[in-house]
Amino acid sequence: MPDDKVKKEIDKLVDEINYHNYRYYVLDDPEISDAEYDRLFDRLAELEEKHPELKRPDSPTQRVGAQPAEKFRSVRHSVPMLSLNKCNTEKEFEDFVRRCNEELTGVSDKIEYHVEPKFDGLAVELVYKNGILETGSTRGNGVTGEEITENLKTVRTIPLKLRTKKPPELLEVRGEVIMHKDDFEEMNKKREEEGLDLFANPRNAAAGSLRQLDPKITASRPLRFFAYGIGLVEGKSFDKLGDALDYIERAGFIISVESEISDDPENIKKKYYALLDKRSDVQYDMDGAVIKINSFRQQAKMGELSRSPRWAIAWKFPPAEETTEVKDIFVQVGRTGIITPVAALKPVRVSGVEVRRASLHNEDELRKKDIRIGDTVVIRRAGDVIPEVVKVVKSSRSGDEKKFKMPDKCPVCKQPITRLEGEAYYRCTNISCPAQVKERIIHFASKSGVDIDGLGNKLIEQMVEKDMIGNPADLYFLEKDDLLKLERMADKSARNIIDAIEASRKPELARLINALGIRNVGEHLADVLADHFGSMENLMRADYDELSEINEVGPTIADSIVSFFKNEQNRRMIEKLKEGGMKFPTVEKKTDYAPLEGQTFVLTGSLENYSRRQAREALEKLGAKVTSSVSKNTDYVVVGADPGSKYDKAQKLNIDILDENRFKELLKKYERAK
Ligand code: IVH
Repeated sequence: MPDDKVKKEIDKLVDEINYHNYRYYVLDDPEISDAEYDRLFDRLAELEEKHPELKRPDSPTQRVGAQPAEKFRSVRHSVPMLSLNKCNTEKEFEDFVRRCNEELTGVSDKIEYHVEPKFDGLAVELVYKNGILETGSTRGNGVTGEEITENLKTVRTIPLKLRTKKPPELLEVRGEVIMHKDDFEEMNKKREEEGLDLFANPRNAAAGSLRQLDPKITASRPLRFFAYGIGLVEGKSFDKLGDALDYIERAGFIISVESEISDDPENIKKKYYALLDKRSDVQYDMDGAVIKINSFRQQAKMGELSRSPRWAIAWKFPPAEETTEVKDIFVQVGRTGIITPVAALKPVRVSGVEVRRASLHNEDELRKKDIRIGDTVVIRRAGDVIPEVVKVVKSSRSGDEKKFKMPDKCPVCKQPITRLEGEAYYRCTNISCPAQVKERIIHFASKSGVDIDGLGNKLIEQMVEKDMIGNPADLYFLEKDDLLKLERMADKSARNIIDAIEASRKPELARLINALGIRNVGEHLADVLADHFGSMENLMRADYDELSEINEVGPTIADSIVSFFKNEQNRRMIEKLKEGGMKFPTVEKKTDYAPLEGQTFVLTGSLENYSRRQAREALEKLGAKVTSSVSKNTDYVVVGADPGSKYDKAQKLNIDILDENRFKELLKKYERAK
């Protein structure tokens, strides 16, 4: 077939498939059968394989084909992606309206407000150049995010090409990637069957799915995109947010059907309560309503204050509560032997997630709330925290409810448990208790530990029960044949796990320290210790005094570190890790942490809290370059009091300007991230 004929057919197929994709995923109103769709798709794939040079960037085959990335590149948003000020009460919303009225007096137009759900997902930005999706990124810190174009291309409700006749040169679309509650539950069910870790909620599932280096994994996850705003636009202009969103909808996106515009704040309130009412009926998690001034001109007049616009507010929903029944109370043994009472509940859905258990924290808490087996209770799920019992509905008591008594033996190893003075918890002090062993290994292998991908809790439980492993180091002596003895373990999965264990032999020092599960040492402290000591050997050698010298290490922490490394069993485990091929990394004191590398700053005017030299050194430490004159290569100008002509020049060149507050925030953010 001659090339131009092929090209014609490819063009036709791309447009046709993209159209049917839109009908199916965005409009939820397909015109053709799945079989017909597959036929078109296969034909396109066949032609593209023979003529790769004719492959179009908006071809639907591009949604799935990409190779895994090594790591995510960071990209700067041309307009910062701001966060939202939050409020919780009607009165606080009225305060917001009052501020808008005060600020915008003299502006003759009425103030219109745009209200819609606050989606609980992950914010992303999509950059379309001449109608073609070019890059997609996460919000990140608002200024820079991670480039995840290939992953976003797998989301079917994101058009690869805008559906407008004459697309603008540049259109940046912003919105939220979410997962529907049904899809989330189905996915988790499958993961449970496969023995994989479960996601806590649809938001975590969406975020985790997007941050995969392999786009094929993202492609297998049921993600969706709701558009709620724009960034930079060239070749088109809008007066109002509502107009921009209507345009975006016509261009092929889903915008919220729940959005409303009104100049009467009373209507906005009504809408908030209507959304609150609908909360458990809609397929996505919403955690509030976002209210924005509709006119872009009025928005500009209100401006922003340290990263949040003054023209918008997120009016949050109260944490979701439900009533259910306590079927039983039992205790769980944690990684450090802490015994936690847990209520087994009659399953109930709370804001879209089925809840079967609630932590009762400890004996005192249980007594204070007087929770008994058989009680009707109000439970609450706030964000992604474990559900908790708010209170007992005492009026529902029949008198048959049973009080719970803490056991005097560990339910797993049957050794006596103790409650140390001053502690709220009972502990099982037998460090070989299988429950603790399991939890320690789960913690060791988790993402915040050495991150053994695919080694889920269920597998670890099985291996401990079958006595295949008794501590984390044993993992490094496993062979594929051992794994094949486990239930439902196929050859390929066993191979993958062995590979993942292999890959975990070179962890970062901080991860490894965290993985050990030293009591009172979490992720943050592990970072601090890694930075301070630089190697495991140094940390193991440190005595109480040396540890106490570190700012963030108090007496309790210093004690637990010393006793952890004094413990013979722990020392042996660390030796065994080495024998198993674990590389014990070292950290150079001078870190190569340089998040601002490649960014050029200019300082002008006097800052209140930093001398010029301090400001320069702080920036340079983070990898930034500080120069003395503003040019088009300058990324940021930090402006203090009485700035000079550099300030004017920066404005002329449209360079991002940081006042002292934003500068301070920037430093704080990166220094914390370190
Ligand atoms: S507008 C200045 N609209 O909220 C405008 N954001 O706190 C900022 N979000 O990171 C964004 N639903 O992830 C906007 N309908 C909505 C939203 C929404 C959820 C999230 C978004 C952003 C965060 C800001």
